Amino acid sequence: MAWKAIGIFDSGVGGLTVLKEIVRALPQEDTIYLGDTARVPYGTKSPETVSRYARQIASFLLSRDIKLLVVACNTASAVALDSLKELLPIPVVGVIEPGARRAAAVTETGKVGVIGTEGTIRSSAYAKAIKRMNPEIEVITRACPLFVPLAEEGWVDNEVVRLTARLYLRGLREEGVDTLVLGCTHYPLLKGVISEVMGEGVTLVDSAEETARTVAEILLGSGMLRPAAEQGNHHYFVTDVPAGFIKVGNRFLGGQLGDVYQVSLEDDAAGEG
Ligand code: DGL
Repeated sequence: MAWKAIGIFDSGVGGLTVLKEIVRALPQEDTIYLGDTARVPYGTKSPETVSRYARQIASFLLSRDIKLLVVACNTASAVALDSLKELLPIPVVGVIEPGARRAAAVTETGKVGVIGTEGTIRSSAYAKAIKRMNPEIEVITRACPLFVPLAEEGWVDNEVVRLTARLYLRGLREEGVDTLVLGCTHYPLLKGVISEVMGEGVTLVDSAEETARTVAEILLGSGMLRPAAEQGNHHYFVTDVPAGFIKVGNRFLGGQLGDVYQVSLEDDAAGEG
């Protein structure tokens, strides 16, 4: 039997933090990753634009015969997940719901903080998802846009990132949240500094880890999980020249990327408006 791959996409390199967790949880699965490096960042763009990009990418990955689609980008999950779920004939998993579920489960004081891009925070997608699980929880949010370039630059442990984190997170600390959702693909790289600034009593929720768990549950439940004895292959596609993606990607993945191919989504997106 030929096992199909899991499709994963992000605006760029950040979704590799989600791929890393999926590969850790399910090393037997083949994956196809698309990073939309020609059009990154999504976090500052309108919901309409991000949704259009997401549909184009979904159609590209679907044409590669995937069995499940992971929207690794928090911004795309926040604004495009529902329409992708309606459109596609396969399961679609975003990163918001798994992170929100975990946060609702671990908070003891009922005060949860969420950090993400401007687009994710503006959408209120995390706050809505957490409140769906428990309306009593108070959700305090903060956009932290500078964390994205800092993580890509590899500045994850120096005075610049520490000062930036202190300024961004001060309000959340003062509010006394006991749980903080890392609602952006890049933030797991800054876990050390974020945790140091927030202090010991605050639990960090990594949406990437929770998403990998959800993917495993869905594949198991639907009989699509590949036998554990197999070894998965990983393919990477980007929409700009691969050099920058490879350089930063190895760090995000914590290992060596395989071959990375450049593709044009315009060909796949005929008829998209
Ligand atoms: N991948 C995006 C996210 O998780 C961060 C980078 C961007 O703005 O495109 O929201």
